[in-house]
Amino acid sequence: MKAREIAGALRKAGIEEAEREAEEILCHVLGVDRTALYVLDPEVPDIKYRLVTELIKRRTGREPLQYLLGEVEFYGLRIKVGRGVLIPRPETEILVETLIGETAKRFSARFTALDLCTGSGCIAIAIGKAFPRASVSGVDLSSVALGFALANREANCVDNVSFASGNLFEPVDSAAAFDVIVSNPPYVPQDDLKTLQPEIRLYEPMEALDGGEDGLSFYRRIIGQAPRYLNPGGLLFLEMGAGQGVKIKEMALASGFKSVLIKKDYAGIERIVIID
Ligand SMILES: C[S@@+](CC[C@H](N)C(=O)[O-])C[C@H]1O[C@@H](n2cnc3c(N)ncnc32)[C@H](O)[C@@H]1O
Repeated sequence: MKAREIAGALRKAGIEEAEREAEEILCHVLGVDRTALYVLDPEVPDIKYRLVTELIKRRTGREPLQYLLGEVEFYGLRIKVGRGVLIPRPETEILVETLIGETAKRFSARFTALDLCTGSGCIAIAIGKAFPRASVSGVDLSSVALGFALANREANCVDNVSFASGNLFEPVDSAAAFDVIVSNPPYVPQDDLKTLQPEIRLYEPMEALDGGEDGLSFYRRIIGQAPRYLNPGGLLFLEMGAGQGVKIKEMALASGFKSVLIKKDYAGIERIVIID
């Protein structure tokens, strides 16, 4: 079996980017890079045949490619993923990039940050890596997600990031205060969950997606409680779903914040909120 046969099987099952995905599967299984594929056009050896057919079966059953490969690239880091943890998205890299830019301007190198709904730990680890003298804490309710976060911290060799299990601010010491709070919380409105593409709907954890009836339930809680946990001059950074900006801005102003800035993602959709 060669790359084009894998691609053929994926295409037949309706996978849009069948060629690219077939190459990624083959590179992963053979432990080679794309150039080697183009130059050598290798055949899957007998010893790997069952593994490849198993991966094709999983992918044609719509399991996300990233779960098959076991990792994704996020902000220049390799982040391990698998069933039970949300796959980090490119939009979230914009959240990290924005946070890193603003934070470098405003705080000393030893600033403190709290990442609520940390999932794979991608945001917390990217901040910790960018600012080795900062101190970053991540919180998640899911023990599976936290297992990935810990493995990712280790794999990326960061020693200034800690993780805790719990419901939003619950595991945070009531006397603690942070310069930065960041979150990419679940934000899909409940009625929209069933319309998500099968890769997401059937495989990614519902608790990472379900934002309550209007998709805003996490923002109400985070924005409502954040002022208690922010140092004077502290910033709150949020990722949000399409069309949620107006309501989030209202919540922030009602909570006593003085300004709200919204940034668009690569598709031109309002995605990142910076609350001051
Ligand atoms: C949209 S995912 C974000 C994951 C990661 N931060 C990222 O950007 O890829 C939301 C995460 O929130 C977690 N979560 C859901 N409810 C929570 C709660 N009440 N308290 C803390 N974490 C929660 C889920 O387990 C999931 O990992």
